[in-house]
Amino acid sequence: MNEKIKLLDQKKSEALLGGGQKRIDAQHKKGKLTARERIHFLMDEGSFEEIGMLVQHRSNDFGLDKEKYLGDGVVTGYGKINGRLTYVFSQDFTVFGGSLSETHAEKICKVMDLAMKNGAPVIGLNDSGGARIQEGVVSLGGYADIFYRNVRSSGVIPQLSAIMGPCAGGAVYSPAMTDFILMVENTSYMFVTGPNVVKTVTHEEVSSEELGGAITHATKSGVTHFACANEVEAINYLKLLLSYMPQNCEEDAPALPYEAGDELRPGLNDIIPENANQPYDIREVIEQVIDSDSFCEVHKLFAENIVVGFARLAGKSIGIVANQPAVLAGVLDIHSSTKAARFVRFCDSFNIPLLVFEDVPGFLPGTDQEWNAIITNGAKLLYAFSEATVPRITVITRKAYGGAYDVMNSKHIGADMNFAWPSAEIAVMGAKGAAEIIFKSEIAAAPDKVGKWKEKENEYQTLFANPYRAAERGFIDEVIKPEETRVKLIRAFDMMKNKVDNLPKKKHGNIPL
Ligand code: HXC
Repeated sequence: MNEKIKLLDQKKSEALLGGGQKRIDAQHKKGKLTARERIHFLMDEGSFEEIGMLVQHRSNDFGLDKEKYLGDGVVTGYGKINGRLTYVFSQDFTVFGGSLSETHAEKICKVMDLAMKNGAPVIGLNDSGGARIQEGVVSLGGYADIFYRNVRSSGVIPQLSAIMGPCAGGAVYSPAMTDFILMVENTSYMFVTGPNVVKTVTHEEVSSEELGGAITHATKSGVTHFACANEVEAINYLKLLLSYMPQNCEEDAPALPYEAGDELRPGLNDIIPENANQPYDIREVIEQVIDSDSFCEVHKLFAENIVVGFARLAGKSIGIVANQPAVLAGVLDIHSSTKAARFVRFCDSFNIPLLVFEDVPGFLPGTDQEWNAIITNGAKLLYAFSEATVPRITVITRKAYGGAYDVMNSKHIGADMNFAWPSAEIAVMGAKGAAEIIFKSEIAAAPDKVGKWKEKENEYQTLFANPYRAAERGFIDEVIKPEETRVKLIRAFDMMKNKVDNLPKKKHGNIPL
């Protein structure tokens, strides 16, 4: 064989070994896959093309001139996922702990630039000790080069981040600016400052897992959208998520074949309890309306009083936002507002129509909410819906009270079609509270105060605790039987498949951050 070809083969097999077999074994011992194994499971078989396999770092300080590895701690390239072009970078912890050097950053930027120019998603598989300490400012510059591209790409191509090891310091900000984050339980963590610094500054003793593990970020902070039991589950979620998205903001998400059948769902008629204060699980409604087994819930463990996720209706991708009466009566609060707002903005960026199920008693009262800015945060959801130009439909299943009526994709803020079930109650507030306020003096003057209160409550209930007042005004387009919901939605979304709606010309809006 030609000597030059022999040399190439030798270099490639050297690169495939990353930081060496011992370090690969150590990675496996921790329950982690290697950078290349992750790509193997992610990409369609044989489709991955590596870019920059022979890149080496340029640093000569601290003895680094004697320690060089081909690829420099990150595997980058492109390939297919379910037949669709996707770019990927996968950090290799076996090489300098996956730390980010100048050249490592350049490799990531190269695939990000290609992804933008060619209009395809980027997936980052993160497993890194952060900035390559020996390189100093060039490493920090490399991070900033990536952050800049994350922002430039935002809303143009989908960006997904899986955290499969350490992700600390400023390094967390690249995933934070991507569209979705997935973390792996027990082997990944994210924090700006680690447990040692926390202990020095605040005297708190906390483990890495407790401070920034998958469950912490899935439940407490909401930083991660998914907490996965292991890496393979995380990789499968990445593939599933992509299946609901278009390649870029100019395209529509791919649809699955659909044949019309019996679209009536009589089971929906029995979901709303007789007593309006009784909870029910909104997921039961979602599951019966959408194509079977098509719901991919996002942010499942965070702000559970609102449910968001992707689904398919008649084969087409939709985004669902639904109040959850089974948790805190489905009230809107800071976390549920920001969770839903971000999801709405993602769907709108990528032409995914929005379906809202509404059963909301209002905003959560209290000092905690007011002092932590429910005003600003609630406004985010209002802003996000008002700004969205994709087809938008609301179904009011029960309560639509107060400001929450306006916020939850009402017609007044641009929803295209609003349906209500006969069980809908559309009012400024619940009948009990309303009677207490507007009939205060009448109740006070009555010999039987409790009886009077009840009478006035019933009066208010009869007048407003239904969808017909709103339908009279045209705020509701149709009052429908629950069993008809699926067929009505399929037809309405189909009617709007060519919807065009443009925002006024502007540089960008100023969402209340
Ligand atoms: C260079 C690093 C490194 C880094 C790890 N290594 N992190 N080399 N720069 N940042 C090397 C180690 O020296 C070691 O090399 C190998 O990677 C594996 O690391 P271990 O410590 O043996 O692994 P483990 O016990 O699993 O611990 C992993 C770790 C720890 C928790 C990530 O390595 C660690 O704390 N690293 C430093 C983290 C850090 O402070 N990074 C800078 C954050 S600031 P050998 O040769 O011994 O195997 C930052 C700023 C970004 O990132 C700013 C952007 C704006």
